[in-house]
This record gives sequence, C-alpha cells and structure tokens, in this order.
Amino acid sequence: MQTHEIRKRFLDHFVKAGHTEVPSASVILDDPNLLFVNAGMVQFVPYFLGQRTPPYPRATSVQKCIRTPDIDEVGITTRHNTFFQMAGNFSFGDYFKKGAIELAWSLLTNSVDDGGYGFDPEKLWATVYLDDDEAIEIWQQVAGLPLERIQRRGMADNYWSMGIPGPCGPCSEIYFDRGPEYGVDGGPEANEDRYIEIWNLVFMQNERGEGTSKDDFEILGPLPRKNIDTGMGVERIACLLQGVDNVYETDLVRPVIDLVAAIAPRGYGEGNHEDDVRYRIIADHSRTAAIIIGDGVTPGNEGRGYVLRRLLRRIIRSAKLLGVDRPIMGELMTTVRDAMGPSYPELVTDFERINRIAVAEETAFNRTLASGSKLFDDAAQSTKASGATVLSGSDAFTLHDTYGFPIDLTLEMAAEAGLSVDEEGFRGLMAEQRRRAKADAAARKQAHTDLSAYRELVDAGPTEFTGFDELTTEARILGIFVDGKRVPVVSHGQAGDSGTVPDRVELILDRTPFYAESGGQIADEGTVTGTGASATAKAAVNDVQKIAKTLWAHRITVESGEFVEGDTVVAAVDPNWRHGATQGHSGTHMVHAALRQVLGPNAVQAGSLNRPGYLRFDFNWQGALSEDQRRDIEVVANEAVIAAFEVNTFNTSLDQAKAMGAMALFGEAYPDEVRVVEIGGPFSLELCGGTHVQNSAQIGPVTVLGESSVGSGVRRVEAYVGLDSFKHLAKERALLAGLASSLKVPSDEVPARVENLVDRLRAAEKELDRLRLAGARAAAANAAAGAEEIGGVRLVAQRMAGGISAGDLRSLVGDVRGKLGSDPAVVALIAEGDDDSVPFVVAVNQAAQDRGLRANDLVKVLGAAVNGRGGGKADLAQGSGKGAAGIDAALAAIRAEMGRS
Ligand code: ALA
Repeated sequence: MQTHEIRKRFLDHFVKAGHTEVPSASVILDDPNLLFVNAGMVQFVPYFLGQRTPPYPRATSVQKCIRTPDIDEVGITTRHNTFFQMAGNFSFGDYFKKGAIELAWSLLTNSVDDGGYGFDPEKLWATVYLDDDEAIEIWQQVAGLPLERIQRRGMADNYWSMGIPGPCGPCSEIYFDRGPEYGVDGGPEANEDRYIEIWNLVFMQNERGEGTSKDDFEILGPLPRKNIDTGMGVERIACLLQGVDNVYETDLVRPVIDLVAAIAPRGYGEGNHEDDVRYRIIADHSRTAAIIIGDGVTPGNEGRGYVLRRLLRRIIRSAKLLGVDRPIMGELMTTVRDAMGPSYPELVTDFERINRIAVAEETAFNRTLASGSKLFDDAAQSTKASGATVLSGSDAFTLHDTYGFPIDLTLEMAAEAGLSVDEEGFRGLMAEQRRRAKADAAARKQAHTDLSAYRELVDAGPTEFTGFDELTTEARILGIFVDGKRVPVVSHGQAGDSGTVPDRVELILDRTPFYAESGGQIADEGTVTGTGASATAKAAVNDVQKIAKTLWAHRITVESGEFVEGDTVVAAVDPNWRHGATQGHSGTHMVHAALRQVLGPNAVQAGSLNRPGYLRFDFNWQGALSEDQRRDIEVVANEAVIAAFEVNTFNTSLDQAKAMGAMALFGEAYPDEVRVVEIGGPFSLELCGGTHVQNSAQIGPVTVLGESSVGSGVRRVEAYVGLDSFKHLAKERALLAGLASSLKVPSDEVPARVENLVDRLRAAEKELDRLRLAGARAAAANAAAGAEEIGGVRLVAQRMAGGISAGDLRSLVGDVRGKLGSDPAVVALIAEGDDDSVPFVVAVNQAAQDRGLRANDLVKVLGAAVNGRGGGKADLAQGSGKGAAGIDAALAAIRAEMGRS
C-alpha cells in the first residue's frame, strides 16, 4: 500500500467517525521553546490547555514532524527518521480511552477491502502506563488482546509530554511484531526493533511543568477536560505494509537512494553497511531539509538554521564518502519534490526557492570542505604524532569559524579517525561568540511568561481591542500584577519584590485601545487615568504585551495616586505616537511590496520591526543588493505613497485570503479568520493585524537608509518614514551645506572638490617620502665619510631624522655598509619614528663578524637603552623601542660595547 493511500485511509476513517480534517501546521510554530513541531498535537495545545475553545470536538490530521535528537541513529536502525508524518486523531473533552482504542484497533485490523490496513491482530501488542488497569481492561474487551501481549511500562516510555511545559498524560502504545528474524521474543520491553511501535494513544489529562528528562518533570494538575491525542507513524506503517526492511526503503524515500545509486561508484545494498547508512542519511536528510526550507528556514549558525545547515552538510559529506564527486543537491531536491509533492504542494509551488537555498549551501560548503578537510587532516595527524587522542578545542573552533564545519561534523570526522574532541574547550571559545546572540534572545520581551498567575484572567476571556476605531476607551481594571504577582492595589512609589522600584507593573483591562506588540509593530504608548474617586491616579503606559495571545498586559509606571482592581479608568493612546506607528507599519508594507516588485517573488519576508518614524524589514535573499536595486526600491515605494492609495482592511477566511494572493509570513500559525490589509489593490495585500494609515499619502516620504546582512541568506533594509524621513534628509542636507562652505564651493561641486583634494594630498605625501629618503641618504653618505674607529673597527652610529620607516632604515643601513668597504665595519642607525616608536637597525660586515661582532647581539644593546627589543642574524638585525629620550644613551651604549670587544 502506497504512502499516499495510507494517509488517505487514515483521514477517511476518522472523518467518517465525526472528526474534522485539519491541514498540517507549518513545522515552525510560534513557540520559543520548541525548535520544530514534533507531534500532531502541537497546533492544538491551546485547546488541550483550555486557553481557547476548540471549534470542533474531534479532529484528525497528518502533521509534518521534525525530530532531530536521534539524528545519529538515522540509517543505523531501521526506523529513525528526522522528518516523518504523524497521522493523528484528537478528542477535545469528547471521547476518551475506550473511543481511542476502538478507533485505532478497527483501522489497523479492518481488512484492506473494508478500508483498513489489514494487520494480523495476532501480531499486535500494546503497552500501558504502570497503573493503568482501565486501559488494560479496554484492550482485553475491545480488541480481545490477551494479557500476555499487554505490557506495563514506566514514565519514560508510557507517559507522554512535548518535552516542555504543556499538556501531558499516560499513554498506550501499539506495536507490531516483525518476527524472530528481527530479534528476541519478549515484547516491546525486550526489543523495539523487532516489536516496532506504530501508534501512540495519549490520554491527555494533566499539565506538566518544568523538568529535566522524559521521566522527571513536575505534574501541575489536571487539565480542564480529558482529551485524546494520538500519533501513528505513517512511514512505519508504510514499511510494514510494503514489506520492506526499513523506513528508508518505503515508496517516498527510496527514490532518493535510487538516484544516488545511479551516480555513486558504489551501490546500495551491496553488503557494505557503512555505505548503506550513508545512502539512508542522504535520503532521510534530503526530505527533512526540503520540508524545513519550505517552511521558511534558511541555513544559519543558531537554532533552526543550524539544524538545517547540519542536515545539508551531512548530506554533502555522505555523498562525498560514497565517491560522488560532483554537486547533487539540485537532483536530490527535485527527487524529493516529485515524491512528496502530491501530499505537500508547497514543495512544488515553492520549489525554485527551496532548491536555490539548498544548492547555495552546497556550493558554499564545497568551497570550504576541501581546505577544511586538509586542516582537519593536519590537525589529526599532529595530534596522533604527539601521542594524544584528543583533538584540541581550538582546532575544532577554527574548523567551525573559518571553514564552517558544524561541531558535529568535526566530531564525526574525529571519530572516524579514532580521535575524540575537546568539546569543552570548543564550547568555551564558542561561548563568547554566542554571548551576543543569547543576549538578544534574552531581550526578547515575548519570551515565555509564567502563565499560572494569569490563568484565571485568561480563562475569563480575551481583552477587547477597541484601537482600530478609537484612541480613548473607558475600561475596567480586571487585574493588577507587580513583578508577575497579582495584587489588589498598586500605588505611586510602591516597592516591588526587590524592595525598591518594581521591574514590572501591569494592568489588565477588559477593553483597551492600546495596540499590543505583534506582527513587527511595537506597542502603543499613552496613559491610563483614574475616574471618580480615584481621579488622581495616573500612569504612563510604556509597553503592552499579549499574554497567551488573548490578554493585553499594559506595562505602566504609576505617576500619581493608586489603581485598585475593579476601578473604572480611561485608557488613552498618545495620538501622535499612534499616527507615527501607522506610518511605520504602512511604510513597511510599501517597502515589502516595492522589494518584491524590484527583486521578484523570491524576496520572502523573514521578519520586520516598525515603530513611529522607522522600519526595518528582513527578507530571504542571497547576496547584497546593488545601489541601483536599493534606489529602485525607494522609488517604487515613494511612487506608491504619492499615488495616494486608499487603505482597506477586512476580515475573511484564511483560504479566501490566500486565494486573493495575500502575503503571509512563513511559519506563522494563522487562525481560520484573518485580517487583510490592502493598499492600492494588487500593489500590496498582506495578512496583518496592525494599525495603518487610511491613505498611503499619509505615510510621507520613505527614505531607504541602506541594506545589510543579518545572517546567511537574510538581508535587512532600514527606512525612515514621515517626518523622520524628512528630518533625516534635512540633516544630510545640512551636512552637505557645511562641507560646501568649508570647501568654499557650491554643493554640487563638493564631490569633485573632495576627489581633487584627496589626489593632491596623496601626491604631496609621496613627494614628502621621496624627499625624506633623499635627505636620509645624504646624511648617511656624510656619516660614512665621518666614520669613527673603535678598536680597529669602523663604526657609524647615528640618529636619523624623524619620519623614517623601519623599511627605509634597513635600506639605508645597507647603503652605508656598502660605502665603508671591506675593512671591519659596523653600522647602527636609530630613528625617531611615529607614535613615540623608535626603530633601529644594525648591520655588521663580514670582516667585523670575523672579529666576533654580531648584529643580533648589538641590536640588543640598542634595545635595552630604548625600552625595546630586537633580533635578527649576525649580519643584519633590527628592532623597535619606545621613547626618543633614550636614543643618545643607546648610541653611547653601542660605542661602549664595541670598545669592550
Ligand atoms: N503526541 C503523541 C506522540 O507524539 C501522540 O507520540
């Protein structure tokens, strides 16, 4: 049975049983704690936690999942994929254990003609959580499973959570026995390669807190309702139903193996286990990479970008080790697209971009792989030669920093060479580099807030946002929080936890005109004022953040009086601030639209930030923009401003918005109903919840400042809008006027004038150097004529005029020595250099050397007198000291030294 058919039967089975079919979410969801979506339930978490009301009581989906912790197992075992499809059914407070077991059992064991998978019930096993007698009973009743094919297992195996705080619960797993050729008897407890897990039924009933491992986390308490979350591994079912040995040989993965086998000199399945593993790594990782790029990730050195880079580089290196000596990434991506496209149309529609990013990484990595491998070989060899077995942290760091080797690649290569790596040393060196990135992440204001204090208010319902229609709203205070703790009252000057000024005072109101930071737009500023008896209460609103996406938390500074829970207040957004904010956000849409017009549809948004007067926009793009492109973007954006387009906003369904061509951000989870902002019809159409001008002309001038790189394949443009744009231009104009006046030319002649001045300055400097050297030569010639004699050796020991370089000094010393002829002679020149430095050079001819004089000894005598050091050979040595005051002493010292020898 083909994989596409397995998916279809799953969805049909559950739709028939009253489930709503929900499409797969992106593998990237908006949760800073979850690198990738790793289970079908992730998009439903708010329903399980009771944060949102599910629009349906039952759902079913086939979710794209990424799990990379087991990346080293890929290809070695028969069942580990970094990308896999999880088919699942979900009940939100509807059916529970019995329903879940019945539905799973019937799909697995119903005959193929009957729409099922036709598994032999005799070969199926189940596991349950230690004390779950109820599940055991249901398995016996519903499926007729004998007790000897039901095993009890502990928390690590049979108590499921996402690995981070969220919903959790005991689970029951279904296993298929592949027979004795895959290992010993004894059920899943004994051997998970023979008894292969195919389906996990989670009885989602509790909420977990922080923890360190699969069986060590706090259980905070029961969820509002009992739910079901299941996950069936589509690839594993395919492996069994297609009668192949492992998941890499199933119908959608195998084509990549076949492609590589047609190119590589050594084939697949020819008895070389290491080669087979490499084939499987390429097949597995190619799929994963295509999916991840499809959902908006580009290769980088942190987080998701790093995972992608590591996958791509493992592919490239595995291919090399199979003897493939040419680029193959393009063919791999094409093969993945053809196999997976029917289920994931984004791989087809977005293929050009996916392919371009993957191939660019291949090209870049191939460039460095050759030189990096050489460095690695040298380092490995010298490590071994010194009798050590550990490659140094600094070698690993250089490989990473200069050659782009992910540490895991270095670890793998080291292991192949029989070495380990000083990972601690490596991480120490990395720590400094990462410090900034970490500081950035910590500064992210929307990082995980501890929800528990707000739970009651979250449950009571969302804050009503009135700010699209008005800037001043009367509202009631529903809650007051000081440093995350709920309090009944907050007053001016009240101390927080630290005993002094509290870090964070928040008001939760029932309604508010304040925009909370989201979608790149920062929060509104303004005031909250008391009414009636508390009319003296006044606070400045500094920031507004959403909690659990539904509750607006106004971060305030209380300026006078006190606020009491239940009070009626007036929340007022500063109209100037809001006006600027709308200019910033609408300006961002203009720049985005202009970018796509100038660069084409591949310039996909990667992030943005806007505040009054300023915006920045990040997008996926390889290479820098040219000055012409930058200017064109600015022109297109300003033309659209001048066109005075009307701005329309409306709500519609996600499907309808997409059909209209509205641009959405990759990786964002959008609700079914979305808000669309349209500026000038087709010119700009975006899904957006932000505040905007009514007419594009209100944005005012857009000045694109420049363009820079913010990581591999991501560029950033920054711009000013409105009055700030004007102020920026005025500042530049004043700068130019100032220059014109000091240069005493009209402004438009400034560039020519500056160029002319620079040319003349260069010529004058050259002339000065020439004259200085000529003067020094003349002085040296005189010096040679007036050489003194000490102990039968002619000596020229002389101070040269300032401004002479060490190089010139060397050539002068040679000149003088030449003039002194073949009798024993020593030349010592010392000069007053730039920045207080004192360069010196000593030359000793052959006859003087024969008398035991050596330039490298004499230079030390000079150095000692001018706080410097020097070195060289017997005939010529040089050095440099500090402080011209010692020059005379140095010359005296050398005379004395010569007198001694
Ligand atoms: N969420 C459960 C799992 O991933 C079904 O195993």
